[in-house]
Amino acid sequence: MAQHDENVVWHAHPVTAEQREHLHGHRGVVLWFTGLSGSGKSTVAGALEEALHQLGVSTYLLDGDNVRHGLCSDLGFSDADRKENIRRVGEVANLMVDAGLVVLTAFISPHRAERAMVRERVGAGRFIEVFVDTPLEVCEARDPKGLYKKARAGELRNFTGIDSVYEAPEKPEIHLDGQQLVTNLIAQLLDLLRRDDIIKS
Ligand code: ADX
Repeated sequence: MAQHDENVVWHAHPVTAEQREHLHGHRGVVLWFTGLSGSGKSTVAGALEEALHQLGVSTYLLDGDNVRHGLCSDLGFSDADRKENIRRVGEVANLMVDAGLVVLTAFISPHRAERAMVRERVGAGRFIEVFVDTPLEVCEARDPKGLYKKARAGELRNFTGIDSVYEAPEKPEIHLDGQQLVTNLIAQLLDLLRRDDIIKS
């Protein structure tokens, strides 16, 4: 445990989260995309961000491949490192939600426990779990980065779906068929955001 606890107190600043949301004109939430490598998380999250941006929504996309070049560049793919990866990203996403943004995250986030941890941290109604459900065979056939091939050849260890687990969400807020057209998936996501009064436009 870090050395903080009783000597560090929470400071309440004058501008509140509600005021920031009001300024943005929409709610602050995180859309937490989870799925296998190659399932389409980044593609769908990127396309949704573009659509939201055009609607005047304040967004930010946190993507596993990018975050692992900076904030999480010291982490690998052991269970402990993946857990720390998700913890850090969850904290950053939580701050951005507090800033009033619609945050989109695209991480494999293979463990239910870590996703539940972030859900609890961000709070009820602000954590929207998006399961991009694409069968392993399809992800492996796509293999955009050639990583499945390497994993099958034994050149890459702890690869999700091959020799490392992926625990599918049991009750995601939205379950997407990752083989549908991206435009179709975006329509489903926008419907959800409007139905739940997260965005108005
Ligand atoms: S997570 O499990 O900690 O959530 P994250 O989404 O950040 O993973 O990173 C996954 C990306 O790293 C994959 O899209 C893939 O390109 C790359 N990668 C490299 N090694 C592995 C591995 N062993 N397992 C899964 N993805 C890997």
